Amino acid sequence: MSHVTPQPWHVSPRGALSGSVRVPGDKSISHRALMLSALAVGESRIDGLLEGEDVLATAAALRRMGATIEREGEGRWRVHGVGVGGLLQPEGALDMGNSGTSTRLLMGLVASHGVTATFTGDASLSKRPMNRVIDPLAQMGADITSSPGGRLPLMVRGIVPAVPIRYTLPVASAQVKSAVLLAGLNTPGITQVLEPVSTRDHSERMLAGFGADVTVEETSEGRLISIRGEAELKPQQIVVPGDPSSAAFWMVAASVVPGSDVLIENVGLNSTRAGLLQALRMMGADIAEQDARTVGGEPVADLRVRHAALVGIEVPPALAPSMIDEYPVLFVAAAFAQGRTVARGAEELRVKESDRIAAMATALSACGVTLSEHEDGLTIEGSGGEPIAGGTTIASLLDHRIAMSLAVAGLHARRAITIDDAGPIATSYPTFRATLDGLAPAEIAA
Ligand code: S3P
Repeated sequence: MSHVTPQPWHVSPRGALSGSVRVPGDKSISHRALMLSALAVGESRIDGLLEGEDVLATAAALRRMGATIEREGEGRWRVHGVGVGGLLQPEGALDMGNSGTSTRLLMGLVASHGVTATFTGDASLSKRPMNRVIDPLAQMGADITSSPGGRLPLMVRGIVPAVPIRYTLPVASAQVKSAVLLAGLNTPGITQVLEPVSTRDHSERMLAGFGADVTVEETSEGRLISIRGEAELKPQQIVVPGDPSSAAFWMVAASVVPGSDVLIENVGLNSTRAGLLQALRMMGADIAEQDARTVGGEPVADLRVRHAALVGIEVPPALAPSMIDEYPVLFVAAAFAQGRTVARGAEELRVKESDRIAAMATALSACGVTLSEHEDGLTIEGSGGEPIAGGTTIASLLDHRIAMSLAVAGLHARRAITIDDAGPIATSYPTFRATLDGLAPAEIAA
């Protein structure tokens, strides 16, 4: 799962993007579909599962803890669960690769089971903060030993019975919320999470879909999610909608490359994930929602995106939780807009697969974009639709979204942009490059 040999990728303009794409399954929903299926009693089927390395890391770990997980065909998987409380002691360490979601959510599951698991990861994941999940899980009684600073490798010694808690999220993090709710699944009584700022709600939705007793209340302090533990989960047939975070690259690419007209099919539009759509529309993007429908309990539509002259905006900080993974590519959109874009209130970007504020500031500056860096975001002066200079090599820093965002920038640059290592793209979007070739085949030399 680690990319030993770097895979450099030279991206130069190819002209307009046209045609239709179907984005892979939602990464967040795919992780949760595997985890809840693994804890159900009986056999679940999942259609549209993202077969990226992050999700495969979750599948491998769940297998090691007793679930039977089989691939039946492209995106079609069958999972035979062990039942809540039934996870088995894994042999050896669980390799989480690059995946923060796998790590934090599985730590939650292990915390309330009678097993001990060691979590390891790649160089990127080993720098990311885990105290945000260690703190509440320790309050529930789990014994967690981490590397200095609450980093990986770490060991979770689960406890049965765990203690139900009421936990107020100190950071707007769906991963922390989900870790506590998943720990609550095998905890007697009612475990509660209060989120002052709403984050993606896939865990709550899917737990309810599997038959857990979950309630969500809007209170004056925020959303209060309660789960009654020692639940029995019933196996499900799950259809995973397309990932809006993967669609984001085509939304921006088609918006900034002149002449483009792209239909992105089957995009999940859960309001806790759709912030980029709002931000791009504020910038003047031409994005039409077609055939709105419900897939697997989530709102979905096809998006027709046509090139448009974008204008700089102040990105409302309130949108941050609903577009937290989309800032790198939003910064690329801003680089081509008319005027200034100010994006603040996104300090969480500093603890993603890379420090995405620093990574994008360095990469876009090297490509000739004028910007200034803040602790919590960037201010970017756009090119007014003109190509940016490019002609440089940027570091993807083991971060799939940095690599894909700079690939989008390279589609409208005067000289090629070289991504030093495109390997990390396989964590969330293994077919990204082939899809780009389908939308804009002819690579024109810079
Ligand atoms: C995710 C939540 C977000 C997001 C990550 C996936 C999830 O992280 O950045 O890519 O599936 O719950 P945080 O919850 O830490 O903000």
